[in-house]
Parts: sequence; structure tokens; C-alpha cells
Amino acid sequence: MKILVLGPGAREHAIVTALLSEDSPHDVVCAPGNAGIAAAGVATPALDYVDPTAVEAFVREHGFDLVVIGPEAPLVAGVADPLRLAGVPVFGPSQAAAALEGSKAFAKRIMAEVGVPTGGAKRVTTTAEAEGVLDEFGAPYVVKADGLAAGKGVLVTNDRAAALDHVATWAPHGEVLIEESLDGQEVSLFFFADGHDVVPLSPAQDYKRIFDGDEGPNTGGMGAYSPLPWLPGGVDAFVREVTETVALPTVRQLEAEGTPFVGLLYCGLIVTAQGIKVIEFNARFGDPETQVVLPRMVSPLSEYLLAAATGQLGSKPAPEFSDDVAVVVVLASEGYPGDVVAGREVTGISATGELTGPIEGVHLVHAATRREAAAAGDEGAWVATGGRVLGVVARANNFGDARARAYQGIDQLRLEGGQHRTDIAARVV
Ligand code: AMP
Ligand code: GLY
Repeated sequence: MKILVLGPGAREHAIVTALLSEDSPHDVVCAPGNAGIAAAGVATPALDYVDPTAVEAFVREHGFDLVVIGPEAPLVAGVADPLRLAGVPVFGPSQAAAALEGSKAFAKRIMAEVGVPTGGAKRVTTTAEAEGVLDEFGAPYVVKADGLAAGKGVLVTNDRAAALDHVATWAPHGEVLIEESLDGQEVSLFFFADGHDVVPLSPAQDYKRIFDGDEGPNTGGMGAYSPLPWLPGGVDAFVREVTETVALPTVRQLEAEGTPFVGLLYCGLIVTAQGIKVIEFNARFGDPETQVVLPRMVSPLSEYLLAAATGQLGSKPAPEFSDDVAVVVVLASEGYPGDVVAGREVTGISATGELTGPIEGVHLVHAATRREAAAAGDEGAWVATGGRVLGVVARANNFGDARARAYQGIDQLRLEGGQHRTDIAARVV
């Protein structure tokens, strides 16, 4: 198949890597992609991937059998809609259905319609209104901007004044939600969805905070592992329950409302003492969870993406996953998730974008790198260009080995001021 993957990050690198590892060869283009994807030999044409008109023109010009939209910004901007209208198979929801991620209030309404288990939430528009709601829910306070906020919209704090400040910051930009605080282990579980049916992938756990021990501010995700051996009742029972109580009712409700969800339904869950509850939905693959879920997927990814895009998931069995486990550790720049110091050299990466010293079962995914032009006698340095820079992905038949390999990889990479967590997957070893 000729496949276009849209997006610039590590998630797209993971998707491209999975497509290229299939037995049947595909012609994969990743726009705009990144330097790591290019170093792997994939075409990475420049494209304003968030602009529906630009993407439609690009797809019309080049012709693709399947378009896979990676990040949330193009989905919420409506990039899927003109493509679908033109009859192109698209993996990624319409602008209307992407509101499941783009508006937390919309997601809460859908969940309420069909009784999907989630924490209580109230909308507020002023700090005066917020005072009463904060006291009603009590500490820790959970305050969320309604729309996309590049990971900065959610604050969980015991500091009531900080919670009110967060309301004051985001209220001018739209609604703010104050939520009941939920306590328990977090789980990310992805589903392929074709508008009517859903097919689950394998669960993963993300590490959201910047520092070890889940301290410090929220980030996009500093590491992940899959599967989750500690799930109550085991992985299969957990996946079945989430399918029946969360994913399927949500997708059927969106279908009934005339906004079918076609793409990846990301269920952000928390396993509380009162059972499984939804923290949030996303309308796309998680980053960095995808980096540990897709390498474990034995069935061909492209078949599921195409089946979802063409309404054929009902005829597909659940994909097969390897018994191997996977761990990813993210290397981030100094300052992340605040003001990032970018532009520093990263050493330990080869011309093909992999570790200079190969480790069995380990590969790199690039999130924000660039390669300087090679000069005589010089291969061209790798430079960090953003917050999350690289992920070291390791596979093994047990978590002890996978974790050890991932950290061996991290030890080979040198980035001045670079940050990584040292406790990724420690709880499963
Ligand atoms: P979100 O962007 O909605 O995933 O929120 C980011 C992170 O904030 C989540 O991964 C949780 O760690 C935390 N969080 C969000 N909502 C809640 C909640 N209701 N109770 C406790 N923690 C939460
Ligand atoms: N890792 C969290 C997310 O992708 O939203």
C-alpha cells in the first residue's frame, strides 16, 4: 500500500517503524516527519500537516491508499474531513468526532449519555464560581482547560490558591472543568474504531510527571511500558471490561449522534478502589505509549488501520500481541516541560538514527532532532530541537531485561542538561 502518515513526532516514528516491519512491503511517506524518520530511509516531505487545504492538495497530487493522522492538532483542525469526502481511506476522526479529545466538556457529556464510568465534573466560567466547586470536590483539586492546551491545561494540586489561579488563567480561553480527584494506577488502552465497531490493542502505562516518583509538573509522557501484568483479573479480563463499559458505548453514542468516530480511541483510565474510570479520551495514539504497544503487535498494523478507515473492523479478530514486553525511556531537553533549552548536540546516534553501539532488542524513536549537514571527514552532528528529544525502546522477554536494555541505551546518549526518569517500569521488575 501507499501510505501517508501525518505528523512530526516520536509517535509517527513508531507508526512508520511498525508499517515498515510488516511482511508485505509498503510505500510509506511521513509528512513532515522528522530527521530520525528520514534517517531510517523514509520520505519526509515538508507539509503544513495541520492545514486541511494543504493536506488535501498534497494527497490529491500524490495519491495514497491510506492516510494516517498522528497528532491531535490536525484532527481538531478537521484535516480528516475533506479527505474522507474525497473518498480517501483516512485513519483519524472527523473534526466533529475529534471533539472527544478537543473538548473535555464534550467528552464528559458523551460519557454521561451512556453511563461510562468517570469522575464527577463541573464547568465553571469564573473564579467566584470555582471557589464553591473546589470546596465541594475537596483536595486534591483537579482543574482542566476545556480545549487543547498542549499538555498545559491540566493542574492537579493540593494548593487551593494555585487551583484558582489555573481557573483564572484558562477561563478567558473558554470553559474550565473542575473534576473529582481519582486515585489509583493509570492505564492507557487504545482501540481501533471504524465508526461502529472497536478492536482493542494491548494496555500500556505512561509516566506523566517529569521527575522520579511521579513528582513535578505533568509532561507529554516521560516513559512507558507494556503490557501491565498487575491489572486486576489479568490483561484479557481488563480489556474486555473496558471494551464493554467504555469503548463500545462511546463509539456507538457518537455514531448515533451522526458523528462516527473512525480512528484511534485512546482511553485514559484509572483503576480506582471503586473500579475502572475514565480520566480522559484522546482521538489518536498516545505518545510515548505507542512506542511500546506497536512493537509488541504481531498482526500487521496496516490491515487494522485500513479496516478501521473503511468500516471493516467488524470482520477482524483482535490483533495478536507478542508475549515479549517493551519499555521506553524518554530523553528530554533541559527545562522541559517549561522553557526548553534547544539546539544542543546529542551524541551516541549513528547516521541511520540508531544507537552508535547497538544493543539487542533496542531501537531509537526520534521526537525532536535535526541532523547538521555532513562536512568533509564529519558525519554531521545530531541536535536536539525540542522538549522530548528521543525515546529508547527496548524489548525483551521480561521487564528486568527490557528495563536494563533501555537504560543501557540512555547511558550511551549524551545531551548537556538532558533529563530522563530513572524509575520507568521499576514497579513491574
Ligand atoms: P489529562 O490531560 O486529562 O490526561 O490529565 C493529565 C494527568 O493529570 C493525568 O494523566 C492524571 O495523572 C492527572 N489527572 C487528570 N484528571 C485527574 C483526576 N480526575 N484525578 C486525578 N488525577 C487526574
Ligand atoms: N502520553 C499521553 C498522551 O499521549 O496523551
